[in-house]
Parts: sequence; C-alpha cells; structure tokens
Amino acid sequence: MQISQKYSIFVISRLTNMNIPDIIIAVDGFSSTGKSTFAKMVAKEFGFLYLDSGAMYRGVTLAALEGGLIAKDGSIDLDALSQRLVSLDLHFQRESGATLLYLGDRCIEKEIRGMEVSSHVSPISAVPFVRNWVDARLHAFSEGGRVIMDGRDIGTTVFPDAELKIFMVADDAVRAQRRFDEMLSKGQSPKLEEVMENLRQRDYIDSHREASPLRKAEDAFVLDNTHMTLHEELVWVLGVIQGKFGILEAPALTW
Ligand code: DC
Repeated sequence: MQISQKYSIFVISRLTNMNIPDIIIAVDGFSSTGKSTFAKMVAKEFGFLYLDSGAMYRGVTLAALEGGLIAKDGSIDLDALSQRLVSLDLHFQRESGATLLYLGDRCIEKEIRGMEVSSHVSPISAVPFVRNWVDARLHAFSEGGRVIMDGRDIGTTVFPDAELKIFMVADDAVRAQRRFDEMLSKGQSPKLEEVMENLRQRDYIDSHREASPLRKAEDAFVLDNTHMTLHEELVWVLGVIQGKFGILEAPALTW
C-alpha cells in the first residue's frame, strides 16, 4: 500500500471516530453580523476552543488607556506602546465553558466591552506592530487546533491556511436592528438611524484601512444569516464541514 493511501485511510478513520476533525475555523465579517454568537455556539456544540481576536485588540487598548498612552486628542504614544507590549500579559482563560480575557490575574471582560475602550480600539487595531503582536499570540493560543476564532482578518492574514473559513454577512437593516436591540437590553437609549450610520462608518474603516483590511478570503464560505435562526446556522455549518471533510456520520446537535 502506498503511503498516501495509508494516510487517507488513517485520516478517514480518525474523522469517523471523532466526527469533527481538529481543524482551525476562521470566522470573519462585518460588525454585528453575529460572528461571536455563531462562533461561541459552534465551539460549545463541537467542543472547540473559542478565541475572540477583537478582545485582544480591546485588551491592548485598555492597557494603553490605563498607562496614559492615548492622549485626550486620541493620539497614541507609539514608542511607549511598543515598550508596553514587551511585558503585556494578555491571555484567555476558560471558565464554565466561556473563554475570558485576562490582563495578568485580572479578568477584563467587562472593561473591554465598555464605551471608552470601544471608542479607542479602531486606531489601536490599525497599528501594524500591534497587529503583529496580537497575531503571534493568537497563533500561540491555537496550537493543537480545534479552535474557532472570529475577527476581521483571520482567514486572510492570521490563519490563511485555516482548514475552514467562513465569511458572515447580513442585511444592513437587520444588523442595525440587532445592535439596537442589544443596546436597549443594556439599558442604553439608542436611535436606530445613528446605529445604522455607526455600522456603516465601521464597515468603511474596517474594510479600507491599510493594515489587514476586512475582506473575504477567496476560499471562504459565505454565511448570510439575515433570515436564519441560530439552529439553522448550526445545521448550515455542519453541512459545510461534512461536505468539505467527507464526514458521513453527523454528530447529534443539541442546540
Ligand atoms: O469584533 P470587535 O468589535 O470586538 O473588534 C474590536 C476592534 O478590533 C474593531 O475595531 C475591529 C478590530 N479587529 C481587527 O482589526 N481585527 C480582528 N481580527 C478583530 C478585530
């Protein structure tokens, strides 16, 4: 028997035993397309580690704000920031099924989702050396595979060889409504037109910046979830995985 035949038998038997192989799944897309909800659900369902790459940019932004490295006018002290990165200990910890971001021994999940970080993260994430620093960490956290990661450039820059790439889209009006509902549920009083305008601005910034702009990888599968439930998204991704990796026996879904 030739080595390639042996190898494919090994791969097939491994897939049938484990159902879903130890792959890296890259999920990219515009803001409010439901990337993190989708990625968390897939991680839970298939026993993958979920990594939120946007959280890393948010963590760097929090450290920069706390270190006084972002001036009132928004300008960033780039020399000091590159020094700060040398000893910055940002890492994920898994707790009760969730993956939480820590700065040293402090959980910073809540702070990185606040308004102050949100309003400074875009320029920080456009700094090339920050992107290199984050990418190196994402690679280290993903060793061994069985990881699903969401962001803007995962399938194009961070893991161009990811075994499965998904690019998420949804109609603008639906995305704006989702964001609007989310803000309402947090006790804020948003205006729908402003939310829509903000989404459009972020789409533009994310897809037009020089360093790693948001774009669909050529080999990414497009998931348009405008009219889909979470369960339908899960059935969709399972179908894609089965087709791509030749898995006949589907695991039972619990979602
Ligand atoms: O997905 P999010 O809103 O948490 O992302 C925070 C910021 O980080 C946002 O401005 C986009 C940026 N980002 C990025 O540039 N590349 C990624 N892979 C993930 C996020």
